[in-house]
Order: sequence, then C-alpha cells, then structure tokens
Amino acid sequence: MEISQYDEVYALWQITTKRALSRADSRENLEKYLKRNEGMSQVAIMDGRIVGTVLAGHDGRRGFIHHMAVLPEYRRHGIARAMARRAVEKLKEDGISKTHIFVFRDNELGQSFWPSIGWKKCGDLTVYAFDTEGNEDEI
Ligand SMILES: CC(C)(COP(=O)(O)OP(=O)(O)OC[C@H]1O[C@@H](n2cnc3c(N)ncnc32)[C@H](O)[C@@H]1OP(=O)(O)O)[C@@H](O)C(=O)NCCC(=O)NCCS
Repeated sequence: MEISQYDEVYALWQITTKRALSRADSRENLEKYLKRNEGMSQVAIMDGRIVGTVLAGHDGRRGFIHHMAVLPEYRRHGIARAMARRAVEKLKEDGISKTHIFVFRDNELGQSFWPSIGWKKCGDLTVYAFDTEGNEDEI
C-alpha cells in the first residue's frame, strides 16, 4: 500500500469496514503509519482497481493488523487469506512472531474468517482504551 492510493483505499473502507473508521484513519496518519511499517500493509488489485486492503505493523514486540477488507463482489476467492499470510510473513521478517487483530464481537464475517485461517481467539482478553481528546465513542 502506498499513500498515493489513500482516496481509493478510504473509499473501499467506507463500503466494507465503515464502523471501524475513525479520525485515526486520516491521510496524515496513514502516511505516518506506512512510513513506520514500511512494506507491510497491502492492497489487492484486480481488474485494474483496489479490491482488498490490510494494514499491518508492529510496535517492536507484537504485530497488529487492521482494516482487513475485501469488496463484496471479490469475496470467497482467498484474497483476505493471501493478504493475511503475507502480512504475517512480512512481520516475521522483522522478528515479530505473534500478531493481534481486534474484531467486533458481532462481526460475523470477521468472526468466521480469522479462526478459519488458523488464528486463535484470545477469549480471556478485554480491550480497554483511553482517549486524550475524550472521543470515547470512536474505535
Ligand atoms: C472478512 C473478509 C475480509 C474475508 O475476505 P475474503 O477474501 O472473502 O476471505 P477469503 O476468501 O480469503 O476466505 C478465507 C476463509 O475464511 C472463511 N470465510 C470467509 N468469508 C466467510 C463467510 N462469509 N462465511 C463463512 N466463512 C467465511 C472461509 O473459511 C474461507 O475459506 P473458503 O472460502 O475456502 O471456505 C471479507 O468478508 C470482508 O471484507 N468483510 C467486511 C470487513 C470485515 O469484516 N473485515 C474483518 C475485520 S476483522
């Protein structure tokens, strides 16, 4: 993924993963994210357009994936599986052996997808957040 693709990527997210979008997904932030995690985030391109995305990065000890998304008409062809595999490979190259993903509890697609490709649910974890701007309603 390159920052020059931001508009197309953001349009895809609005179709596929709108609930997970926040001020954190501004162009400026994505540019910083891609620089900090060079070569790890991906777009899938088919028929000359972006049909899938994944953000992948790490903090030095654990990997994190966000915005795994495929346009509805391109689903069930293994695109997300391939992007997840590649993200894990890229993270491993950087010495990261374990990666986490946050999935809304009621996101049936996400809840089906991750275990089906071998990711294990961390049933005993709860996510807490603190926002210095008080935007508690945002993810
Ligand atoms: C989740 C998502 C990224 C999967 O993309 P995809 O390219 O269709 O996934 P794949 O084709 O690689 O599927 C891999 C496996 O996941 C499972 N899976 C994927 N979609 C599924 C569905 N709708 N129902 C049940 N299992 C599903 C299957 O086991 C599938 O393997 P199979 O097709 O051989 O049976 C896509 O549905 C999507 O963009 N959803 C909206 C955004 C979203 O919720 N993202 C996840 C955020 S955590």
